[in-house]
Amino acid sequence: MFSYNIGIDLGTANTVIVTAKKGIILDEPSVVAFHVSKGVKTFLAVGEHAKSMLGKAPESIVASQPLSDGVIADFDHAETMIKEFFKKAIPRSKHFKLKAVVCVPFGATPVEKRAIQQAVKAAGASSAGLLEEPMAAALGAKLPVLEPKGSMIVDIGGGTTEVAVVALGGIVEASSIKIGGNHFDSALIQSVKKNLSLKIGGATAEKIKLQIGSATVHDKVDCAEPLVISGVGSMDRVPRSASTKQQDYCTAVRPLINRIESGIRSVLERTPPDLASDVYQDGITLTGGGSLLKELDTELTRRLNIQVVVAENPKYCVAYGAACAVAMGKKFTHAIEYD
Ligand SMILES: Nc1ncnc2c1ncn2[C@@H]1O[C@H](COP(=O)(O)OP(=O)(O)OP(=O)(O)O)[C@@H](O)[C@H]1O
Ligand SMILES: [Mg+2]
Repeated sequence: MFSYNIGIDLGTANTVIVTAKKGIILDEPSVVAFHVSKGVKTFLAVGEHAKSMLGKAPESIVASQPLSDGVIADFDHAETMIKEFFKKAIPRSKHFKLKAVVCVPFGATPVEKRAIQQAVKAAGASSAGLLEEPMAAALGAKLPVLEPKGSMIVDIGGGTTEVAVVALGGIVEASSIKIGGNHFDSALIQSVKKNLSLKIGGATAEKIKLQIGSATVHDKVDCAEPLVISGVGSMDRVPRSASTKQQDYCTAVRPLINRIESGIRSVLERTPPDLASDVYQDGITLTGGGSLLKELDTELTRRLNIQVVVAENPKYCVAYGAACAVAMGKKFTHAIEYD
């Protein structure tokens, strides 16, 4: 019996499954929806379809995001979600064993790691190895992780930002900050409520981020046209619209960028000097969907005085890294944890 090897990035916002041969075989939001009738839940939808129900479902439907801060918050929902993703992406056959390598956030507890491993196995994998996310991100971003040289990776996801220096196939210094794209959306919701007395939901906040979101505005002149947004008046609860500018976005998310900056600084301070000097020379690589925020790389470069660049296909680096680790075989088995 042969084995079918997959790498999984089970993210707070999105799940990506990759094989070394075929590349990306699944890229969907980490959302699952159920019908609820008399207390009994039956599966309804997964991924993109389930995401469209978030915040809009009637009482008889539960749309759930089973991961929070990169770890499983609801085991049963996570298991169903992964099972349905496997059904969508992987051909069913009795003739192969499904072997998965799943990424786990740096700093996940042993209990959280086991839960991820168990959920992937319960969903149908015959084995589930664990790979630390920053290492996967660095591998997927094609950094020279096996060399005696320090490389810094900053993976900005939906729920967390992982900052790490890797060298010789291991993580030398790292930290996980509970800030990701979802927190950027929450910060915008708060600021729109405070400044425009308008209540908006998560989906609207994400749309605004994609349209006019930016980490900085040059010369205090807005690059994007002001955007008209719709919501519900926070006082009178009457639906209405208001206009928001790119500058307002930057102001709302500045405290979050400050925290990412200080997270990077503190990892660099703890890194042995020879490896830190490699980072000063070669720069910092950003991965994760959150790294796609406009001008984030230039803003961090300006603040840190180190070249910060976004990796190619940043949303897929972690999953590619996991598939790459499997394909590297013995060279990389030390970094994968099996039960
Ligand atoms: N063009 C973009 N500009 C800004 N943010 C973006 C862009 N595209 C995606 N994002 C944000 O990236 C986040 C998702 O990133 P990603 O898929 O890497 O997260 P994840 O791996 O699911 O989460 P985590 O690693 O925290 O578990 C979302 O918050 C999304 O809004
Ligand atoms: Mg991620």
